[in-house]
Amino acid sequence: MRQGTGADDREGLPRGGADAAGCPRGADRAPRLHGGPGDDVPWDLLRARHGGLVPVEVGPGERGWLLLGYKENLQVLRDRDLFSADPRPWSPAGTAPVRSGALARDGEEHQRLRVPLVEALAQVGTPQLVPVVERAAVHLLGRVAAEGSADLIGQYAAPLPALVLNELFGLPDAYGRLLADLTTRLWSGEPDRSEPAARAVRAYFAGLVARKRADPGEDLASRLLAHPHGLTDEEAVASLSLLWETGHEPTTHLIGNALLRLLEDPGVWTAYLGGTLTPEDFVDYVMWTDPPIRMLAGRYATADAGFAGARLRRGEPMLFGFASAHTDPSVFHGGDDAMAMAGNRSHLLWGAGAHRCPATGFTRELVRTAIDMAVDRMRGMVLAVEPHGLRRRGGPSVHGLVELPVWFTATGERAEPAEEEPEAPVRRWIRKKRRPASQGARYQAPLAREENPDERAARVPAAAPRPRPRRPPQGAGARYQAPFAEEETRPDPLEVLLAAWRPGG
Ligand code: HEM
Repeated sequence: MRQGTGADDREGLPRGGADAAGCPRGADRAPRLHGGPGDDVPWDLLRARHGGLVPVEVGPGERGWLLLGYKENLQVLRDRDLFSADPRPWSPAGTAPVRSGALARDGEEHQRLRVPLVEALAQVGTPQLVPVVERAAVHLLGRVAAEGSADLIGQYAAPLPALVLNELFGLPDAYGRLLADLTTRLWSGEPDRSEPAARAVRAYFAGLVARKRADPGEDLASRLLAHPHGLTDEEAVASLSLLWETGHEPTTHLIGNALLRLLEDPGVWTAYLGGTLTPEDFVDYVMWTDPPIRMLAGRYATADAGFAGARLRRGEPMLFGFASAHTDPSVFHGGDDAMAMAGNRSHLLWGAGAHRCPATGFTRELVRTAIDMAVDRMRGMVLAVEPHGLRRRGGPSVHGLVELPVWFTATGERAEPAEEEPEAPVRRWIRKKRRPASQGARYQAPLAREENPDERAARVPAAAPRPRPRRPPQGAGARYQAPFAEEETRPDPLEVLLAAWRPGG
């Protein structure tokens, strides 16, 4: 992801440098973290050698610190005086800050942006969220049901959060598929695909804000816009993007890592299905032992100071080392027994302090429902490759699978393609009166079938709008009439975006 969780694998993250050893097992020096450390970074040896933090090079000649100890990670998360979340004063000129929105602000500025997010998310309770997740899951699983095989990352865990968030934002399903596709391209690591996708994602959120300003409904985006803190358009775009940036990728890999754990450990599978391991305990267990984020670009030292035996210089970046903290013997006593860890919620994956993730309940419910739906619908699910044949994503931050191939008992039925939900033509955007507020996501039709881009292109007018002729001046009675609505002629940016989209491109 680009920012938020700060887990952009291209920016602001440790690289091997003067202090970096080529061999990740060389615990006397900082590990080579760029290009993706293996799963076997020797955290225990690093902690033994360096203590609670280790110097790393975060850019050419730029020193930062990777926090290794549980206590040190927690201290930096909580200390708002010595550590700032705002990258602006410290980012090298010309580089885009690795964090944005609420996540990149301190103090009152942070609260002004955070509170609308917290309150908008709080209104998405279990009764609202679960049907939305189930609907997205039914759609995705229905597409592979007849095959008897699937990639649970690419065909399930990766698109699912985009479909869910899009529906909660109050947009038709076609935009959810667009957002899911853009997300895949963004993560592809191929600049030819990821750069246009990043531009399209910005257009999606700008279009979302424009649409919801003009036509609010009972959705998360409209609630955020209506918040008394009065966010500007720019702030609203940043806030809604932040939900997707911080939420999507870790959620995908939490679902993926959890499904993998079920598939590779029959004991965990039995305990989970039998109910002796509750969904909450299972999700926490995965967050402890196979966290979807290993490291996170997080804070900057605000002063020269001594910290945990090291000398920090003002402006130096501090990287959270969650994977290391979770194996710190001060909190983790070895072993990998899900039942023994049940009830232990003190992992750091949600953060702590002022920026603590405001979507913990939301994410748990989403992930639990996603897992249950997959397990329930893919009867007889087994791994289609040996566990050691699974490929992990590169990069030091996000910790997840490239793909998770499974076999299961094919249903022999293809998902019935639902009638396409009519997508509003551009002229719908020219409104004289407001439509009634939406009834909420759970009343929507099943996800519509994929649309042929040519069909879409045919019904959305090409580029420049033609100015409409003005009506002639009205006669004497005109002053008693309501003035004619000034018809807006600009096409809806979201529809333009959708028209230009070629799935899988
Ligand atoms: C497995 C999934 C998730 C993980 C591991 C996770 C983790 C985190 C962490 C560690 C932080 C704090 C970062 C810091 O202090 O620098 C954070 C903040 C945040 N998260 Fe989550 N998150 C997840 C899912 C989500 C979802 C689904 C959403 C929204 C739909 C979300 C929205 C946010 C927001 C808006 C913030 C910024 C809060 C602030 O700055 O005040 N997260 N998340």
